Amino acid sequence: MSYAVSDNPGKGVAEYLREQENKSLLRFMTCGSVDDGKSTLIGRLLYDTKLIFEDQLAALERDSKKHGTVGEDIDFALLVDGLEAEREQGITIDVAYRFFATERRKFIVADTPGHEEYTRNMATGASTADLAIVLVDSRQGILRQTRRHSFIASLLGIRHVVLAVNKIDLVGYDRVVFDRIVSEYLEFANNLGFKTIQAIPISARFGDNVSHRSEKTHWYDGPSLIEHLETIPIENDGLDKAFRFPVQYVSRPSLDFRGFAGQVASGSIAVGDEVVVAKSGQTSRIKEIVTHGGLLERAVEGQAVTLILEDQLEVSRGNMLVAPDNRPHVADQFQAHVIWFDADAMIPGRSYILRTETDTVSATVTTLKHNVDVNSFAHIAAKALHMNEVGVCNLSTQASIAFDSYATNRATGNFVLIDRLSNRTLGAGMIDFPLRRAQNVHWQALEVNRDARAALMHQRPAVIWFTGLSGSGKSTVANNLEKLLHAKGRHTYMLDGDNVRHGLNRDLGFTEEDRVENIRRVAEVAKLMADAGLIVLVSFISPFRSERRFARELMNEGDFLEVYVDTPLEECAHRDPKGLYKRALSGEIRNFTGIDSPYEPPENPDLHLKTVGTEPHELAARIESLLERRIHGTESDDRDI
Ligand code: ADX
Repeated sequence: MSYAVSDNPGKGVAEYLREQENKSLLRFMTCGSVDDGKSTLIGRLLYDTKLIFEDQLAALERDSKKHGTVGEDIDFALLVDGLEAEREQGITIDVAYRFFATERRKFIVADTPGHEEYTRNMATGASTADLAIVLVDSRQGILRQTRRHSFIASLLGIRHVVLAVNKIDLVGYDRVVFDRIVSEYLEFANNLGFKTIQAIPISARFGDNVSHRSEKTHWYDGPSLIEHLETIPIENDGLDKAFRFPVQYVSRPSLDFRGFAGQVASGSIAVGDEVVVAKSGQTSRIKEIVTHGGLLERAVEGQAVTLILEDQLEVSRGNMLVAPDNRPHVADQFQAHVIWFDADAMIPGRSYILRTETDTVSATVTTLKHNVDVNSFAHIAAKALHMNEVGVCNLSTQASIAFDSYATNRATGNFVLIDRLSNRTLGAGMIDFPLRRAQNVHWQALEVNRDARAALMHQRPAVIWFTGLSGSGKSTVANNLEKLLHAKGRHTYMLDGDNVRHGLNRDLGFTEEDRVENIRRVAEVAKLMADAGLIVLVSFISPFRSERRFARELMNEGDFLEVYVDTPLEECAHRDPKGLYKRALSGEIRNFTGIDSPYEPPENPDLHLKTVGTEPHELAARIESLLERRIHGTESDDRDI
């Protein structure tokens, strides 16, 4: 966060801050395309509210001459686009929060980039904003991005919009241009559920209608931008909302003191109030509210406190303390709107990490119901969600989570999806409502269980997962292994891509989406078979790390052995046992692994078999000996064979 502090020399910082405390706060964001002038506008707002340091100003004048695009005038964009790298690229790339104040109100503005790929940053900046300034260049009018940003702003719960029709000077302060843009915008935005939409003709560069109404737009009788920002009533309804307290950590400084530390996400709580632990339903009362500055009688939204309960309850990180008469949903399936940021598309069936305010769990999108066209709001059938797209999905989490619908509580109704391997944030979601499916189907307690079945077979179940290119020798090695095991009296079953694709998975092809689903189903089947006591041999290309990891996590600890059948592509293409490489190389077959569809080699397989120069039965014997050692607990580290 960067703060601009008053340059009023007569006042100390402490006095300045005290003054600010009593003013209401408006959080807003700006959105628009690259050249619409967002940075110039924010620079202008800061300048006009006289909150720029003298020395910052001096530096600005110097820089304007060096980098600026406006001759001898001050280039306000330079004030905001702080980073050298950004200047060189000429675009703003990250969200920057700025603080400023007028006599009547204080403001936090999230400056978000307008480049097509940067929906991610926009969603970050918007998640706490009350109002969005949607900037439009008078000469360009409403663009696809204007619509996308407005749509996302509405999804993220922003209720007020300013349509800032910028660069009005460049169209000769022409009312006709302004009116045309406004009516085009309203036609679209009236369907988005905003409470207010205020259109203002401005010139960020010359200051028209930014802090003062401009003579040059005599035909406009609305407020200036700052007047509007200062006076727009914002619902300060946070305090009326149900009490939600996500527990960030449990502090135990002494044996008889256990406090739950976190920030009040919504509502308020007082000493003596009853609270419920969201997931377990246990109840207690607030004994004390502790802060750095001493004890409090009441804590409200936004405050960071430690709560001490009258009873000793088990509440760990990831849980919530909530109001007893208004509880959140606790479920492991729900419907949500998802905005996707990443270049790798979201694919149903793929496993992601889902993070809410409180919880971090594994999750998959079970169904992508449809994508939403940001121009027409039409529902479009889709198999994947690509970068910058918005979709409606059902999600399923590995464990139940506590949440509200986004419409009732933004803080406890949102989540992000994170890549399991790289930790990248891939998308953001707004929960619509819980689904009660598996929840009502209780697990049957089975008396004849996996251990009982395995004992009868005198073996330890396992899933041996062969991965490698087509023609690498997976099935051949797996066949040899199965014969070896069979001869020793082991109970086995082989799942082979070529065969399973004729039955269970006959509806699937070779797109990325279909392969993800192919592997998901096979992993689930392998799990059932291991549960039946069998040693399961799975022989699928399984080209993606994330699905192989999903398969590993599905099995019991230690049951899963990943065997990388490593044969160079040239060798596979040369062997070409099924003649498929020839056809793929001639373009007859599309999406062929290694040719025009990727293969991600395992980074850390349990066994790495290089097939060139070694006979399949020798390779099979190595796997068998690894299995034996695993059973007898003498497993050593010889992954590279
Ligand atoms: S996976 O990628 O989804 O794991 P799987 O192992 O089930 O693939 O199926 C691969 C087998 O399908 C190959 O051994 C090959 O015989 C056949 N096949 C047909 N088309 C393709 C293709 N486009 N890419 C890879 N394999 C293909």
